[in-house]
Amino acid sequence: MFRLMLIVTLIAAPGLARAEPTIGARLAATCAACHGTAGNTQGSTLPRLAGQSQQALSATLHAFKTGQRESTIMTQIAKGYTDEQIELLAAYFAAQKSGGRP
Ligand code: HEC
Repeated sequence: MFRLMLIVTLIAAPGLARAEPTIGARLAATCAACHGTAGNTQGSTLPRLAGQSQQALSATLHAFKTGQRESTIMTQIAKGYTDEQIELLAAYFAAQKSGGRP
């Protein structure tokens, strides 16, 4: 009986994990210090990430990473992410609603 319960728990575990924030959301938490919660930058100094297309965000992050687009801060930051992580970040911010206050 115990074994059966253990198996059921193990099978159910990935389902429970789905309620956790996505990997993209977790990666994006790092960006919030400068780009605001969920990419909704407040004020006009920094560009707003929320609502930009996934393609544009991904292209920009790759441009920062390769040095194609110059930026002191974002070059350093973008270099810390793999291509797969950049896609997850881009997908996350593209899915956020632009403009709303959190
Ligand atoms: C220390 C502050 C800081 C952090 C943290 C930060 N950024 Fe930035 N980000 C900036 C600044 C400053 C700019 C404007 C740079 C420029 O245009 O040269 C920028 C620009 C961008 C742009 C270009 C947007 C546009 O419309 O031109 C993207 C995309 C971006 N950041 C993504 C991210 C992501 C994703 C993260 C988290 C992994 C992140 N940033 C974390 C400061 C930061």
